[in-house]
Amino acid sequence: MRISVIGCGYLGAVHAACMAQLGHEVVGIDTDEEKIQALAAARAPFYEPGLDKLLSEVQATGRLSFTTDISAAGGSAIHFICVGTPQKKGENGADMTYVDAAVSSLLDHVQPGDLVVGKSTVPVGTASRLSTLLKDRHPEAHLVWNPEFLREGHAVSDTLHPDRLVYGVQDGSEEHPAIAILDEAYSAPISAGTPRLIADHPTAELVKTAANSFLATKISFINAMAELCEAAGADVTRLADAIGLDDRIGRKFLNAGIGFGGGCLPKDIRAFMARAGELGADQALTFLREVDAINMRRRARVVELSRELCDGSLLGKRVTVLGAAFKPESDDVRDSPALSIAAQLQLQGAVVTVTDPKALPNAAKRFPELHYQPNCEEAIKQADALLLLTEWEEYRTLDPYEVAASVATPKILDGRNVLDVAKWRAAGWTYRGLGRP
Ligand code: UGA
Repeated sequence: MRISVIGCGYLGAVHAACMAQLGHEVVGIDTDEEKIQALAAARAPFYEPGLDKLLSEVQATGRLSFTTDISAAGGSAIHFICVGTPQKKGENGADMTYVDAAVSSLLDHVQPGDLVVGKSTVPVGTASRLSTLLKDRHPEAHLVWNPEFLREGHAVSDTLHPDRLVYGVQDGSEEHPAIAILDEAYSAPISAGTPRLIADHPTAELVKTAANSFLATKISFINAMAELCEAAGADVTRLADAIGLDDRIGRKFLNAGIGFGGGCLPKDIRAFMARAGELGADQALTFLREVDAINMRRRARVVELSRELCDGSLLGKRVTVLGAAFKPESDDVRDSPALSIAAQLQLQGAVVTVTDPKALPNAAKRFPELHYQPNCEEAIKQADALLLLTEWEEYRTLDPYEVAASVATPKILDGRNVLDVAKWRAAGWTYRGLGRP
């Protein structure tokens, strides 16, 4: 099939490459010249495991191209909308500028029978609004909402092997003509057994925001338990293991620590609350305010614990922060709890050094005032305290004996509860976890 993908960020670049991998002829379109140049040279403009390799492989087949020219979308049977919906500045709602601009520029190039397929995370009601716009100009084209559930760091495999496909069509009917066309695009995952659900537009949009809200709630639930464990002298990791064995609860996303960040969960729960308010259903989501508050409290708690670890004062203390990305296997620092904590520590007088295997260039753009050291060994030399804030494999497997020889004082705060406490303590470290005695 001929497919166009509009927006080549985390979502679109991966989607375009994966669609080409599945055998389609794909053009990726973005207004950002630099991004398009990188992608056209088979270089991912961000770190995502496996993406560079995939880009080279599919570009060699001639099935994948990139351009800034929206007219290249003409002639495609499906146009995927993959642009970002960031949080509006100074407001909780989602900024729809990019979605609206993408759709309106696409309208000149749509042909009868084409599908315009939204994948971006949008406020419920967007698909119906865009569908009306599309139908006004092209009565025989269809708008489908097909939310994306990929995780950064696993984006390629999540796209090639999704755990479900959701198609939101106008009437929610299993007979809708768009379904067969989208089934052809996704024939590989469908024949591999991926469940495919048909819904109406608002349901499909809500599936995405509800899923992210649930995940955020699960993380804040366990972080609330961490607060309680700290007060009661209990261990939240044992608690999570025990409740997680109940398969109605499940152990995944019950890792207590410094909380969630990134370009999705924080802004999605806020946009969801804002939209519920517009719909007069704000009461239904007031709990998300608490989810957000618990999450943000973790950052303040880590600053407090760091102060305790530094004998009551951060002034002049050399603190090394291990990890800047919002999660491992990513160079994304959007709303990264690690960086936000590093910045707060610095503001309170600590001498902060941040290290990360991939995210330092992005971190330096966001917080130029912090000191960055790409070499982990150098970064930890003479530190008064280490803070493990992003659980990259290389930090999880640090040897406490070796590291102890390099720091000024062997003190560590494990912000992700991933280190072997007994081993670190046996090596002479003062160890603090979150929600652990
Ligand atoms: C999230 C969802 O997991 C995806 O399904 C969704 O498609 C995506 O948002 C999106 O909307 O595009 P992502 O932001 O890549 O994916 O990251 P997650 O793996 O969900 O992690 C989010 C944050 O939660 C990270 O900061 C992570 O460290 C934190 N987290 C995760 C915890 O603090 N504890 C956990 O147990 C799990």
